[in-house]
Amino acid sequence: MENSPVTLVILGASGDLTHRLLLPGLGTLLHARPGYRVHLVGAASDDLTAEQWTQRVREGLAEGGCRADRIEPMIDDTTFEHLDVTNPSALEEFLGRLAAEGRPIVVYFALPPAISQQACQAMTQFDLPPGIRLAIEKPFGSSLASAQDFNRLLAQLVPERQIFRVDHYLGKATVLNLLGLRFGNRIFEPIWNTVNIERVEIIADETLALEGRAGYYDKAGALRDMIQSHLLLVMAMLAMEEPASIDEVELRDLVVHLLRSTHLAGDDPVQASRRARYTAGQIDGKDIPSYTDEKGVDPERNTDTLAEVTVEIRNSRWAGVPFRLRSGKALGDGFRGIVVKFRPVVHLPAGFHNTAEPNVLVIGMTPESIALSLNTNAEGDRWDLEQTSLAADLTESPVRPYGEILQGILDGDPLLSVRGDMTEECWRILQPVVDAWAAGDVPMDEYAAGSTGPSDWR
Ligand code: BG6
Repeated sequence: MENSPVTLVILGASGDLTHRLLLPGLGTLLHARPGYRVHLVGAASDDLTAEQWTQRVREGLAEGGCRADRIEPMIDDTTFEHLDVTNPSALEEFLGRLAAEGRPIVVYFALPPAISQQACQAMTQFDLPPGIRLAIEKPFGSSLASAQDFNRLLAQLVPERQIFRVDHYLGKATVLNLLGLRFGNRIFEPIWNTVNIERVEIIADETLALEGRAGYYDKAGALRDMIQSHLLLVMAMLAMEEPASIDEVELRDLVVHLLRSTHLAGDDPVQASRRARYTAGQIDGKDIPSYTDEKGVDPERNTDTLAEVTVEIRNSRWAGVPFRLRSGKALGDGFRGIVVKFRPVVHLPAGFHNTAEPNVLVIGMTPESIALSLNTNAEGDRWDLEQTSLAADLTESPVRPYGEILQGILDGDPLLSVRGDMTEECWRILQPVVDAWAAGDVPMDEYAAGSTGPSDWR
């Protein structure tokens, strides 16, 4: 089935995000769900040429698996503009021309956060084409106050349903699978509570170091880059109440509802958080310099490359269960997933020679996998319990997370986009940590690149 054509404008066409994530993500979508017809318009203020843009589109879509016979008609149709996105009259003229073509317009801000805000500010100076959708990349603000300001600015432009705050973790198959796993299996939902679960860890450890992204990362750090958005939202999907239906209002209402009950453990940012920064080391035989020696890093900023925060959810389902969220760069083990540790059995009959280890459910986010540890009688001595694992590697989703998110934006369905109140709640939870770190109340630990983190962080 063919969908109606949509104009997708990418502001920041020459940037790394467009090249590495957006175009390949779109490629996976067009390949797996061929009904989409997208008129792609690139806009950038630097010296990218129309030919270079076309080449980027061709390569990016192909990298996502899109076939040449699908790419070439899109290439014939794609256009490129040199545009200063902070100039209101240039923006007005540009968008007016696109509106006259009659297709719905999506504007994707693949720009540094400060420029996106300036572009939105410029858009307040004129009337936007009716129905236009605005897609905004994370990080959304750098504090609770700045996120609130940005939300107020966006509210002057279009209704909330036309704002798509992008968090690609909401497009990850494993994150979406949390709903299927919890609500599609009789065995999980009845035990998904404090009576049976002792603690939860949500971890996104990366072996990647800075990868030349100092311009962005040195101002963000691991807390803002990963925990404020991605990991808190994964936690909300894991812990929220059962939705009446999977739709944008119900699902996002329940995510916010869960976030509203979420607080730093003990309301103490100093006890509930840890931070560290990598020093020189090796990953896969490659030398990694100390973070502070990376090009473009200002050591005075004291940026965290590893952050950990423990929160608690104050409701009767989760009271007393710590949720530990952690993410870092340049680590030796790149585990990205969720670990649910169950409480020990209430009682083990006398006669077993050892104890029953608590069950653990591990949901791998990248790669996608699931494993549940179980106690079974050992082969040799039948009254010894030993651990075994029910494990499956899940088939990789044909559509990459950015493709899933783009599908929602092209369809005008904000189900997988971050609503304004969701982002403000995430900031509300973490703002005391941001403040405590800025005040120097939490020490900056160190770990060697390629290690598993600071040695005393177990
Ligand atoms: C991005 C962060 O949002 O997510 C990056 O800005 C990080 O720093 C990336 O590397 C991780 O995403 P994924 O999908 O590879 O886990």
